[in-house]
Amino acid sequence: YSKQWEGCMEIAVQTARTAGQVIREAFKHEKEVSTKSSPVDLVTETDRLVEDLIISSLREKYPSHRFIGEESSAAGEKCLLTDNPTWIIDPIDGTCNFIHSFPMVAVSIGFAVNKELEFGVIYHCLDENLYTARKGHGAFCNGIQLQVSKETDMSKALILTEIGAKRDPATLKIFSGNMERLLKAQVHGIRVIGSATLALCQVASGAADAYYQFGLHCWDIAAAAVIIREAGGNVIDTSGGPLDLMSRRIVAAGTVEMAHYIAREIQTITYERDDHN
Ligand code: IPD
Repeated sequence: YSKQWEGCMEIAVQTARTAGQVIREAFKHEKEVSTKSSPVDLVTETDRLVEDLIISSLREKYPSHRFIGEESSAAGEKCLLTDNPTWIIDPIDGTCNFIHSFPMVAVSIGFAVNKELEFGVIYHCLDENLYTARKGHGAFCNGIQLQVSKETDMSKALILTEIGAKRDPATLKIFSGNMERLLKAQVHGIRVIGSATLALCQVASGAADAYYQFGLHCWDIAAAAVIIREAGGNVIDTSGGPLDLMSRRIVAAGTVEMAHYIAREIQTITYERDDHN
């Protein structure tokens, strides 16, 4: 049954590579920056151009499929997951990095059918690392199989997180409180690399033991969730329940123990759901 989507995944890989080339070229030049929901929620002309390029080429091949994209959503398109085959796209994850020429920038393409994630492709545009996974078939980086870390002990953990777009005092207090609690558990370190998808790929690779964040979007989660699961890892909601693609929050870890430990420790930062009306 899942063989059905193999062709779509091949197209996703080709599309991500083509988009990556455009981004790599644009990376060298001056960027035209504007803001979206807040002064730190940024977009460039390249984000829009690359999303158009990805969606128009996929739509040509799959006219009956649905598309959820970061910049189309910002432009007012509804972000609703139905049972139809749906492509979930972040043209540039790490836009702020892209603007600063900080080389952590990725294209993310996830695909869901019947609201279930079938495959994910994440392309690190500068390193040219291609992360891929299809449900039931393992996760790979440039063809090499990925395996998450088996660490259960927080005092031996390297944790990744991202900051999110809200910077009001109450949010910042919870954000730093969460970090403080994990630091008190004597974790080895906490890193913020500026790309949720590439951070999640580090968890899939076993280079980091866990990731958590409030405020990311379905296009940051979709592809990465398949990649982590297929690498043997866990992706859950910050409440400890099952992952909700539209809830804008996530805990991912190599082990169930670590995922639940983090979910218990961190306090919630509330963001409007991606599928709000
Ligand atoms: C963002 C980045 C950032 C994370 C945000 C994401 P974008 O994606 O991954 O690190 O903190 O939550 O939305 O806007 O660069 O595609």
